[in-house]
Amino acid sequence: MLIAPSLLAADFSRLTQEVIRVTKAGADWLHLDIMDGHFVPNISFGPQLVRSIRPLTKIPFDVHLMCSRPEILLEPFAKVGANRVIVHVELEDKVSDLLWKIRALGMKVGLSLNPPTAICHVEPFLHQIDQLLVMTVNPGFGGQPFIHEMVPKIQQAQAWRRERNLGFHIEVDGGINDETAAECARAGADVFVAGTSLFSKRQMGPAIKRMRALTIKAGQATVKPIG
Ligand code: DX5
Ligand code: ZN
Repeated sequence: MLIAPSLLAADFSRLTQEVIRVTKAGADWLHLDIMDGHFVPNISFGPQLVRSIRPLTKIPFDVHLMCSRPEILLEPFAKVGANRVIVHVELEDKVSDLLWKIRALGMKVGLSLNPPTAICHVEPFLHQIDQLLVMTVNPGFGGQPFIHEMVPKIQQAQAWRRERNLGFHIEVDGGINDETAAECARAGADVFVAGTSLFSKRQMGPAIKRMRALTIKAGQATVKPIG
């Protein structure tokens, strides 16, 4: 079970200290939300900011591209030290090429789907990816409530992963706190992106430990098929 705090919820006026805080708190990955003001109705930050925080930590950078033209950003993010890059399945015809390009640049390959998108759209790509990011809010803003109707998507992804003996991570993003993380872990998720719920804590270390422990416990409670 991996905990990935989302930098979007950090205090941007103290970014250096925030990156150091996440690192000392024992986060597994740092989730970086890249928004272009077109794919989503908000703008966040780009490769230049990632370049400036890269020397502060060794934590893998999990870059979530909520962008209409991610093809122009793959090389820049590879150059500034991104370790994993996620693109959206809503980009349709572009998806397969994007996944190949991410791999060719030496990064781990992620695919995401928005709440209105049916899980069947990601099925053709499962053998190509290292992680499937199930959005549990409509992307664009932190601090939104978790959409419980997304849980069956996690269960379906888990069923496919097991049946086909695939190794991709199932990651969840949006409205993740101790309770919703446990709910997702029971359904099969193993990477938990959390912005508001972790950055709002004075003591992020114990908060990460608690979320990890709860998800491990909930994951063990997942009903395993016989045989
Ligand atoms: C939403 C982003 C999320 C966001 C999560 O558009 O993809 O990663 O930072 O924030 P919280 O945990 O506050 O819902
Ligand atoms: Zn995200």
